[in-house]
Amino acid sequence: MNLIIIFLYGVTNLVTSQSNDTFPARILSQQKTISENSDLYLTCSTFGKKSITVYVYLCKEEIAFDKKMQKQDRHDTTFIIQRVKQHHSGNYSCFYSLKNDLPKQASMRGHNIIEILVIANFLPGDISVAGASTVNEGDYVEFRCTLSVTLQTIRECQLIHSYLWRNDSILQVQTFNVSKMEAIFTIQGAAMRDSGHYSCVVLPSTCTKKHEEIYGNNAVILEVKGSLFFQVLISAGVISLIVSLGLGLCLGLWWINKQGSASALCNLSAQIQQEQQAEADNMETEDDESFSTEDEEEQQ
Ligand SMILES: *[C@@H]1O[C@H](CO)[C@@H](O)[C@H](O)[C@H]1NC(C)=O
Ligand SMILES: *[C@@H]1O[C@H](CO)[C@@H](O)[C@H](O)[C@H]1NC(C)=O
Ligand SMILES: *[C@@H]1O[C@H](CO)[C@@H](O)[C@H](O)[C@H]1NC(C)=O
Repeated sequence: MNLIIIFLYGVTNLVTSQSNDTFPARILSQQKTISENSDLYLTCSTFGKKSITVYVYLCKEEIAFDKKMQKQDRHDTTFIIQRVKQHHSGNYSCFYSLKNDLPKQASMRGHNIIEILVIANFLPGDISVAGASTVNEGDYVEFRCTLSVTLQTIRECQLIHSYLWRNDSILQVQTFNVSKMEAIFTIQGAAMRDSGHYSCVVLPSTCTKKHEEIYGNNAVILEVKGSLFFQVLISAGVISLIVSLGLGLCLGLWWINKQGSASALCNLSAQIQQEQQAEADNMETEDDESFSTEDEEEQQ
């Protein structure tokens, strides 16, 4: 009795697996290269191949990893792979079957294959500095960023972006030339604050043109001036020196000549000194309040 049941079970299994054959389906996709973290849409089409409800299987490297029921009046079934990563790159295909419960990792050739390439958003670059890594203030510094891994870009874009990092922040953005496999960053006139750890990153999923001109909504103008306090100090110093020299000369002449011939020059010097004093007073009152209080404190 048991033997007969086992025998019958075996026969039905054989029959069902034979009658639930799998059939190749067509695969369609909008894009073949896709940037990391975007959603990949793959459509399996059974158009012209069937007239009943079937199960459509999506395969990667000929191994099924997802399935959906396709009603008898439908021919296209779309699968969405959300936020793709680089490991999603590969060859995709589709097949369909009457069976819902095909074993995991069922394998079947599709009608066609689509090769999907997921483009990385960031790739770590290799940085080098042209010349010595110790420079003097005011020196010109040039960094070269290259890649040691193969680079694939969206639609074979030839110019992408590259970031120069200093310590924990992005310092510069430059164009990375894909055929040259490099980006050049420069610092014109190094300052003490430029010391730090430099590294670079390449952004393969970006694409830029040679002279891409993108502008913001508006622009603000920043003008950096020398310190006002030092300007006043220097100009005041020079003027006082000239006037003092003039007065000194006057006194000298007066002592030597004991005559009125030098008095004209003396009067002139004295007049200039008065005018300068008045001007300096005006300047102080015209100054921005916050600056003038600071300056006055410092002068005291
Ligand atoms: C996809 O198929 C192509 C040839 O059709 C092959 O060169 C490539 O290596 C395959 N990719 C993977 C990830 O197997
Ligand atoms: C990129 O490098 C190639 C090869 O050196 C060069 O011919 C091309 O002009 C470069 N493109 C840009 C935009 O610099
Ligand atoms: C970067 O880090 C180094 C070492 O930690 C430090 O000496 C330097 O001042 C930092 N530079 C900047 C610009 O923060």
